[in-house]
Amino acid sequence: MNRRRQVYEGKAKVLFEGPEPGTLVQYFKDDATAFNNQKKGTITGKGVLNNHISEYIMLRLEEIGIPTHFVRRLNMREQLIREVEIIPVEVIIRNTAAGSICKRLGIVEGTVLPRALIEFSYKDDDLGDPLVGEEHITTFGWATHQELEDITSMSFRINDYLCGLFMGIGIKLIDFKVEFGRVYEDDHQMHLVLADEFSPDNCRLWDVETNEKLDKDRFRRELGGEAEAYQEVARRLGVLPESGPGDPKGSEAVQ
Ligand code: TMP
Repeated sequence: MNRRRQVYEGKAKVLFEGPEPGTLVQYFKDDATAFNNQKKGTITGKGVLNNHISEYIMLRLEEIGIPTHFVRRLNMREQLIREVEIIPVEVIIRNTAAGSICKRLGIVEGTVLPRALIEFSYKDDDLGDPLVGEEHITTFGWATHQELEDITSMSFRINDYLCGLFMGIGIKLIDFKVEFGRVYEDDHQMHLVLADEFSPDNCRLWDVETNEKLDKDRFRRELGGEAEAYQEVARRLGVLPESGPGDPKGSEAVQ
């Protein structure tokens, strides 16, 4: 992976120049952070697992008509993606109260919400990704009214579909965070695509029977067993790599 020029390094991923213009290689690290980088650690094998889990989810979403940045998985830790102009808004969908909404509004964790709730936060680490309303997004020009409408309908569609997908493997989708980006076609037409990743790093997954947490909350709350939880999600989705998630680099091409 060192052969390519690095264009961006985030907390859990690195982006490298892709083989063709308009593409990037997204490399998944084992690094984990929480509380806006205040807590740092590693979850052994997380990058390999998230690469496979996110590939699987993006492919399923493409099948139901959600455009994504995903092109193909390259190897254990890397996937080829389309380069997008990222919209600086994190979209959060909640089905059950957990995490920040419990603190903010005094709701008991585990309370099933009367309907799926959408929230937005402004993507800015220095500000701690503050919660914002639609008015802020359009007033400051982070997205247009039309884009926000499209983002909202795609996010609820993703939620409806993934609630069913996870329920089928005995997992409740409690909440998740997604990001969208703009892609410009050759004719300058723009369209929105789902970007970033979908993995246990950015959603909450509880076992249907036991309510056991199978996501990054194990790391955030120091519950232990985070690597095993990510492996369990991959195993239930049928994407646990045969060579095992502990693969140290895994950057050789698979196809
Ligand atoms: P929250 O309850 O902390 O607001 O998180 C809501 C969802 O968003 C949860 O599934 C975790 C995810 N999330 C991220 O992906 N990145 C973040 O920086 C934060 C704070 C949450």
